[in-house]
Amino acid sequence: MNLEVIILAAGQGTRMKSSLPKVLHKVAGRPLLEHVVRAAQELEPLAIHVVVGHGAAQVEAALAAYPLRWVLQAEQLGTGHAVLQAMPAIAQDSTVLVLYGDVPLLGSATLKRLVEKAQRAPALLTAVVENPYGLGRIIRGERGVLLEVVEEKDATDKQRLIEEVNTGVLAAPAADLCEYLPQVGSDNKQGEYYLPDILSLAVEAGKTIGSCEASSELEVQGVNDRAQLNQVEREYQRLQANELMREGVSIADSNRLDIRGSLCCGDDVSIDVNVVIEGRVELGSGVTIGPNCVLIDVAVADGASIHAFSHLQDCVVGKDCSVGPYARLRPGTTLGEAARVGNFVEMKKSTIGAGSKVNHLSYVGDCEMGDGVNIGAGTITCNYDGVNKSKTEIGNGVFVGSNSTLVAPVTIAEGGFVGAGSTVTRAVGKNELAVSRARQKNIHGWQRPTKKAGD
Ligand code: UD1
Ligand code: MG
Repeated sequence: MNLEVIILAAGQGTRMKSSLPKVLHKVAGRPLLEHVVRAAQELEPLAIHVVVGHGAAQVEAALAAYPLRWVLQAEQLGTGHAVLQAMPAIAQDSTVLVLYGDVPLLGSATLKRLVEKAQRAPALLTAVVENPYGLGRIIRGERGVLLEVVEEKDATDKQRLIEEVNTGVLAAPAADLCEYLPQVGSDNKQGEYYLPDILSLAVEAGKTIGSCEASSELEVQGVNDRAQLNQVEREYQRLQANELMREGVSIADSNRLDIRGSLCCGDDVSIDVNVVIEGRVELGSGVTIGPNCVLIDVAVADGASIHAFSHLQDCVVGKDCSVGPYARLRPGTTLGEAARVGNFVEMKKSTIGAGSKVNHLSYVGDCEMGDGVNIGAGTITCNYDGVNKSKTEIGNGVFVGSNSTLVAPVTIAEGGFVGAGSTVTRAVGKNELAVSRARQKNIHGWQRPTKKAGD
């Protein structure tokens, strides 16, 4: 059986009240449509066709990394019309699965179940929901045989009481779609060509419509407004947190962890509240993440601790390191084993050697630092002269006293020592002491100023 997928994504999404096409709004950091595409890919279809209309160019650009076949539906005349636009590109002997670009939580297991039922006749994914308002109702006849779908606007009061609804997801042999879609009319309240109308046409032709139920109401939740977007986001996050906990990760509060990308964890990782993960993040065994941390594209090796309120992006944290609280590691930072970065320290494009410490209030940028270095509080690498960036090189075992400014390009060789409060502009040799502050003068018998009369 050859499977082809059609994803409908041409609608405007008026209720989002947004200039961004609806299917590009994000859940867990990814466009809605990307979630649907990824679920479709798990079924290994022959091709994925995406029907676009509103904001077509923007949608295509956002999903450019995926092998998709784009179909333009210039005018949105209904879901039936949308599927029809894709049919010329579909092989006659394929089974077709129709998905909506705004239903992002659908799992591939449910989709597989549906596709299996659509080998000889159309099959529909249904759901029993608490509030069916606005959705197409499933009309069944004797012995539960599926007869048709009636849209909310076209339904009688009695039909509106039905709680089983059309999720919109449908699978059918391509030949059936080619046969019935051209027969679908638009004689209904919305004047649209309804895709589910192929079902009653198939029933009339003597076919038995298959159906299967979604695993939960939320699995088939569509996004039409920002409240539903939020609902879907929370559900997605809940599912991810549950999966991580099953894998052995400790999560302080699953409602206060947001993963917008992928998180890969070793054994006994522990994550405190209000943590945001973006992009690709890897945490080694025994890693602890304190409260209110943001990690974006970061790899943290075994045993390291990221303390509260730290922000890390595009960096590598070595084994047993300690970072924060209140540390900011910007792109290109690599910390060697057991390095320590303390509070109010900012680092950028720098390599910090094993066991080195930058514990308080420092800026380290474009710096190559060896092992066992100690950087005193308030040290600044002056890497920028207003035009160019320059490097600071610090050898193994260097000690930099507090409140020093290292004016790059500059080198402090192995074992070098910088006196507190120095401004270093010239290279410091191996084991040399550099002091560049004014010599202290003590004035004996000095009198404090006294208040002048009349002032
Ligand atoms: C549709 C179903 C309804 C079902 C509901 C589930 C129809 C007629 N009705 O209603 O039975 O309960 O979904 O959410 O199918 N689209 C296009 N081109 C079009 C029209 C729509 O690409 O011309 C796309 C939209 O972008 C959207 C999807 O198809 O992704 C569904 O369209 P929408 O207008 O939201 O259909 P509903 O009225 O929600
Ligand atoms: Mg809808």
